[in-house]
This record gives sequence, C-alpha cells and structure tokens, in this order.
Amino acid sequence: FDLGTPRFATADMWSTLLVMCLLLAPGIYSVQWCYHSQYSCQDQCRKPDKWFLDVPTCGGQKQSPINIVTNKVQFDPSLSPIIFENYTQVLNITVWNVGYAAVFGLPPSARIRGGGLPATYKAIQFHLHWGVTGGLGSEHTVDGEQYPMEVHIVHIKEQYETLKQAMEDQEGLAVLGFFFEVSSDENQQFNKVIEALQRVPYNGNSRMIPEFRLTDMMTSIENLSSYYRYSGSLTTPSCDETVIWTVFQRSVPISHQQLNNLTEAMFIETGQPMTDTFRPVQKLNGRMVYKSMANASSRCGCVLSLPLILLKGLIFVFGMKE
Ligand SMILES: *[C@@H]1O[C@H](CO)[C@@H](O)[C@H](O)[C@H]1NC(C)=O
Ligand SMILES: [Zn+2]
Repeated sequence: FDLGTPRFATADMWSTLLVMCLLLAPGIYSVQWCYHSQYSCQDQCRKPDKWFLDVPTCGGQKQSPINIVTNKVQFDPSLSPIIFENYTQVLNITVWNVGYAAVFGLPPSARIRGGGLPATYKAIQFHLHWGVTGGLGSEHTVDGEQYPMEVHIVHIKEQYETLKQAMEDQEGLAVLGFFFEVSSDENQQFNKVIEALQRVPYNGNSRMIPEFRLTDMMTSIENLSSYYRYSGSLTTPSCDETVIWTVFQRSVPISHQQLNNLTEAMFIETGQPMTDTFRPVQKLNGRMVYKSMANASSRCGCVLSLPLILLKGLIFVFGMKE
C-alpha cells in the first residue's frame, strides 16, 4: 500500500491540506470520539450521544444531521437553483484516509453561489458517510428513511483563507449533501472513487486521483433545482454550528456490488472496518427546514398520481360493496 505523500500538489492543494488538518483532527480531544458501531467494552471511545462531554458544541441546539419531514418543510421562493462554477473541471485531487473517513481535497476554483446562499463559497473537500456491507448509512433521513450513503461537499465563504476563519462566521460554511440509492445498473463514473478508496485502506494513506471530475461522484449538475435547506452544524466533532445545509432531492445511483466494495474498502484508526460512519439524526429544536421549487418530474408525479389515487379509491369503494 501507499504511505507516500501525494506526488502532485499545487500551492492551493497544500493550503487545502492545512485546512483539512484543522477540520479533521479528532486527536485534539482528550478521549477519542467514535461512531456508535465502533463503541465496545474494549474500546470505550465517546459514542455520538456522549460527544458533548468533550465537545460542548455537539450538544447545541442547531446540530446536524436531521430527519427531514417532507410535509412540514416550508416552500421558499428565494431558493433558486444553485450556480455551480468549475464543477465539471478535470482535476488531479488527493484522497486521504484520516482514520475515520476518506477525505477528497478540492481546489478553491470549484465554487457555488445563488440558491439563496448569502455569498459565494469555495470548495475545500468532499467525503462520504456509509453503512455496513451495503446497508443503510446516510446521515440525513427523509421522513424517517435512511439512504445507503451520503456525500458531503464542503465549501467555505470565498473571503476566508482557512476553515478556522470560516467557523467564526455563523454562515461560514456551505455543505451540499447528496443521497445515494441502490440501482440495478452500475454507476460507471463512480468506479473511480471506489478504486481510490481501495488504495487508501489504512489511516494516513493518501493517493492522487488523476483527471477526476466532481461529476464522477455526483453524476451530473443537471436537475438539481429541488433541494432542502436548513441551518446546522458539522456532523463530526467539533460540531460547529456554522453550516448552511443543502440536501438535494435527486439521488445518485449506485449498484449493490459497488456499495459492497466501497463499504469493505477501508479501516479506521483502531484497525476496525470503516463502516456505519454516520451520526444519528439530531433534534430540530424549532428550526425550520425550507424547500426550493419542486422540479418538473415531481410536478409530473403529482399530476399522474391524483387520478391513480381516485381510481384506487373507486376500486376500494366498489370492492367493499360486493
Ligand atoms: C495531472 O497530473 C498529470 C501528471 O500525473 C499532469 O500531466 C496533468 O497535467 C495534471 N492535470 C491537471 C489538470 O493538473
Ligand atoms: Zn459529512
């Protein structure tokens, strides 16, 4: 395996690396934090419901992830489609096994704006949350349903140089979340990500992925006008409540085999498999979740489903009379 440093890195990438070390430094807390599945009698790490003992912010009122209740979300007409800049650019990026996740560094040239965001935000990294042997593993849930996997693309406000600066701003971070859903067909583009993960099995491993596009991971930047928006936090300690969350309705397809390969590819710092890497959903505490305009396909769904519901109702009524 590859313990080397990335062979190719620009100045931008090194600053990204620095930023990520600050974000992803669980070692600075007295007791190691862990996910629920990693807690055992042998390893009395801090599981999610105890993170706040070492990191009080994790017990705050605006924590993430959350369960999105679709019939309680509020439509907000200012939530126009997000404008993606340089998202289709071909990049050489580096993936790291940071001991509890795989983190893919991104150059600040990839930006987002619009979509009700108060500023332009530049990308710093993306990472994934998944389950075990192809089971469920997303962080956010929708109407109580968990998805097999979720990707988070982390951005900071353009004006800041470091994540530390951004975290002093209540709206300093913008994170995009995409769910993955099992499909019968393989997602060919995503194999690049899986192969990269298989090459960084152990804590500290890193690997350059040549000619990567963000759309290899999120399939495309089309049809993304439908999303949920709320104010929340990072989902790992330090749990800072400085994140504007965007969770997209359109999910990314992945085959069962791909999901299996991916969830078995890596190990955490203690040597256990890197599985079930999600924080449970947190209380809303009165926060509102907003929704952008419905996309064309869901409007279509409503039109089609209404006569169907009526038909089912008629069948039911006539069926009762017999
Ligand atoms: C990526 O790295 C290769 C060398 O491995 C180099 O030839 C190529 O120009 C780089 N591409 C970009 C977009 O930086
Ligand atoms: Zn995350």
